[in-house]
Amino acid sequence: MTNKANAPAGSSAAGLRGVAAASSSISDVNGEKGELIYQGYNIHDLARHATFEEVVFLLWNKRLPTRDELSALEQSLRQSYELPAEIIALMKQFPREADPIDVLRTVVSALEFYDRDARDLSREATLRTAIKLTAQFPTIVAAGDRIRNGLEPISPDSSLNIAANFLYMLKGERPSGRYAQIFDVCLTLHADHELNASTFTARVVAGTLADMYAAITAAIGALSGPLHGGANTAVMKTLLEIGDVDNVEGYIKDALANKRKIMGFGHAVYRTEDPRATHLRQFSREVGESAGDSKWYEMSRKVEEVIMREKGLFPNVDFFSASTYYMMGIPLDLYTPIFAVSRISGWTGHVLEQYSDNKLIRPRAEYIGARDLPFTPIDRR
Ligand SMILES: CC(C)(COP(=O)(O)OP(=O)(O)OC[C@H]1O[C@@H](n2cnc3c(N)ncnc32)[C@H](O)[C@@H]1OP(=O)(O)O)[C@@H](O)C(=O)NCCC(=O)NCCS
Repeated sequence: MTNKANAPAGSSAAGLRGVAAASSSISDVNGEKGELIYQGYNIHDLARHATFEEVVFLLWNKRLPTRDELSALEQSLRQSYELPAEIIALMKQFPREADPIDVLRTVVSALEFYDRDARDLSREATLRTAIKLTAQFPTIVAAGDRIRNGLEPISPDSSLNIAANFLYMLKGERPSGRYAQIFDVCLTLHADHELNASTFTARVVAGTLADMYAAITAAIGALSGPLHGGANTAVMKTLLEIGDVDNVEGYIKDALANKRKIMGFGHAVYRTEDPRATHLRQFSREVGESAGDSKWYEMSRKVEEVIMREKGLFPNVDFFSASTYYMMGIPLDLYTPIFAVSRISGWTGHVLEQYSDNKLIRPRAEYIGARDLPFTPIDRR
């Protein structure tokens, strides 16, 4: 591992902040400039001009697709939307109250049983697995939500792209063109983010030459924590608890005085506005206005203003995605699985990259324990 520019030097770099632990061309975060790029392309250009499927191709192939290449990928993804029947049957056995992110983790682990190619780590076979996982994540999340509500899962519609198909399977009706488009950009914005905790986890597991399902299952576990992907649900819970724009000032000041962290603010790398938040702020406003309820957007703006004034912290990707999804009528505990519906593209990209030039990831620990202690037999302790 090498230290990146501005990294805290030496072994005191708790949490590996600023340490470059892999070489990758997939994405880069410039925390000072507030810049995010995927394979050389600025996230603002991709959010404005590319579809999520184009981004998926880009992350896996290091270049944008031609029209024919994009059609071929879209077709492969759409042919893979459906889950094996055994998986749906298995999901019906899960406890109704199971957290949807844990359902996703367990299903991905189980999917390995139904992929005869799983242990084949060639580029061709792992790309097939990446397509299957990217196509099936939305199906798992939507089916899980239907099953826990006592409903039959809705079969995927292969005439729709990933974003529209997900919203269709979740709600049972086709989304409006604009909602599908906004959701598509949300997927692009969450697709990759350099060596965040879950991506690092995926690479560590892939680095042992375990299969892609093992790497992705572990990554979902890392994503589920409230300091990572779990923050978006926590943001909405906070907004609901605050309840009204007039309560924001008092609530936030009290939380900060009591050293409580406000979810959706701060970032391990960004020291300025997270470029993804710029788009999500606009979506939160637009979706609120179109649903005729701007309360959550206005509360979010007030929270943003108070935290900036009191603590100088910027919102991260999770802050405005919460009110955007809420106003789209998506259940709170699906926000983190939706993060995974997007991030599977980046995780699989990193696993492909890891397999293509693998070295076991095995860092050292800074030992801070005692040495040379005399051994005392158990009866004399
Ligand atoms: C993301 C996060 C873990 C980054 O952590 P980090 O780089 O290690 O930053 P630190 O925790 O060292 O924070 C630096 C300072 O800002 C404060 N801070 C950071 N995030 C804060 C937040 N969300 N609310 C209140 N204070 C916060 C810390 O308490 C610390 O203050 P101090 O110097 O007075 O002790 C952290 O900002 C956080 O917990 N955010 C909330 C969870 C979240 O939104 N996660 C999603 C990330 S995309």
